[in-house]
Amino acid sequence: MSEERLQKILAQAGLGSRRSCEEIILAGRVTVDGRVVTELGAKADAASSDIRVDGQPLAGQRLRYVILHKPAGYLSGRDPRAGYPSGLDLVSVSERLYAVGRLDQDSAGLLLLTNDGELTQRLLHPRYEHPKTYLVQVQGVPNPRKIRRWQHGVMLDDGPTAPAEVELLRRGGERAWLGRGFAEERKRDAKAPAEPQPRTSWLKITLREGRKRQLRRMTALLGHPALRVIRIGLGPLVLGNLAPGKWRDLTSAEVQALRDLVAQSEEGQRPDERQRRPNSGMPAAGQRAGAQPTGERTTKTPGPSTIAIDGPSASGKSTVGGRLAQELGYLYFDTGVMYRAITWIALERGVPIANEAAVTALAQQVKLDILPPASADGQRPHPDGRDVTVLADGQDITWQIRRPEVERAVSPVSAYPGVRAALTLQQRRIGQAGRVVMVGRDIGTVVLPRADLKIYLDASVRERARRRCLERRARGEDAELEEVLAEMKRRDEIDSSRECAPLSAAADAIVVDTSDLTVEQVVTRVQGLVERWAGKVR
Ligand code: DC
Repeated sequence: MSEERLQKILAQAGLGSRRSCEEIILAGRVTVDGRVVTELGAKADAASSDIRVDGQPLAGQRLRYVILHKPAGYLSGRDPRAGYPSGLDLVSVSERLYAVGRLDQDSAGLLLLTNDGELTQRLLHPRYEHPKTYLVQVQGVPNPRKIRRWQHGVMLDDGPTAPAEVELLRRGGERAWLGRGFAEERKRDAKAPAEPQPRTSWLKITLREGRKRQLRRMTALLGHPALRVIRIGLGPLVLGNLAPGKWRDLTSAEVQALRDLVAQSEEGQRPDERQRRPNSGMPAAGQRAGAQPTGERTTKTPGPSTIAIDGPSASGKSTVGGRLAQELGYLYFDTGVMYRAITWIALERGVPIANEAAVTALAQQVKLDILPPASADGQRPHPDGRDVTVLADGQDITWQIRRPEVERAVSPVSAYPGVRAALTLQQRRIGQAGRVVMVGRDIGTVVLPRADLKIYLDASVRERARRRCLERRARGEDAELEEVLAEMKRRDEIDSSRECAPLSAAADAIVVDTSDLTVEQVVTRVQGLVERWAGKVR
């Protein structure tokens, strides 16, 4: 394959003289593999690149779309240094094809190959997460609780996974999905001398994100390592009966379905569409965490549906978040309450705070309910002035979680990755239902990284200590400014230096310094941010 100047290629394809082809290039009418090229010196390989003028492929260039059943042990691309064969070599066509996305070398199944650079670019754009379906054979049989954790997302070292569809297949259920090649393999296995095999099971998993070795990492984390991973679906395409190592051209209906998929995703991402789309189709607010709205979640305001407010202790998150939620008619959810609740339960049950495994087990087992502050007879507000009711396994611990001993122990508890994973899962379920103001330390970065509006409230540590002191004194507790200040500095240090989900502003968060502002002023400023967001989107 050789590269030539673009104007020469265009001229050879009958688009006019080289001079007039230069003008076509300069006018921005030419794309190479989906990218507009306007430099005259640019070169391309006509045999392997998708060159178009005004969106039309050059005459004589055939766009080809192939599905390959890549066997395990093959690479999706070419890497002579890797020492593995390439799946591309299994397909003998005259066009130079490449794979759309990757499929791990250990995984088998559907790989889309094409020379249509434009479609590839659009299919791979990270903004559009097209579903990919896999059959995964795992060790053992995961119980329903694990399946649910999988469905809602698990915490990997590069962040939590998005919700996934996970279905445990009935024994033999995988056969309905796997074609001839698999049947032959089973026959061969049946002839082999029988050895006692450990129990395995098959799951059908649909993901809408593709992180490196994601399925293998997820399954290992939940104690059911993947033995085989076979991709059976990619957007509208299905592997069907294709045996491993075999390929076929896509039908024109399949090519059209891919084009429609891309067009729909682009349509769906238009900002004015975002308001109308249901917020990701997630289940409604949490069963375990039992969060309740402060008002009805029925506002008509065309505002951001998920609002993340992060920041250090006493920066004003709860007061401002609560007020904002009330005004919008959204759910207000203070995630710090959950870390505090687990800490109190550990202290109360005599579980040493330093015992990470035991504290983590508590976070996984204790049923937390965060409820509105209604009094026993349903009247609001609660006579004791609480702004939420916190139940742990049914026990009301609303005030206990504010005690100084909890304050001292909560930072180490919230630094345990297992505790974070368990609580993050519940928080995401609540947040992803939408119409929520969620406050904490890692909402914009980890819990809801795609929140519509992210706000980071900050204030000087002395000012925050002063506010905390006033709060405590208002509750009739003793509080010395210097002591509270020292405690706050210690917590800031732990919260922002811990390895797992440290306190930090998301790159796309709007930082508001509240040091010299009254609560009213902060609320007004935050309302302004909500309105500005709505104005931009409208
Ligand atoms: O906001 P707060 O002071 O009630 O939070 C209590 C503790 O929980 C605090 O030390 C940090 C931790 N936390 C966290 O690590 N992540 C969150 N999303 C919320 C709170």
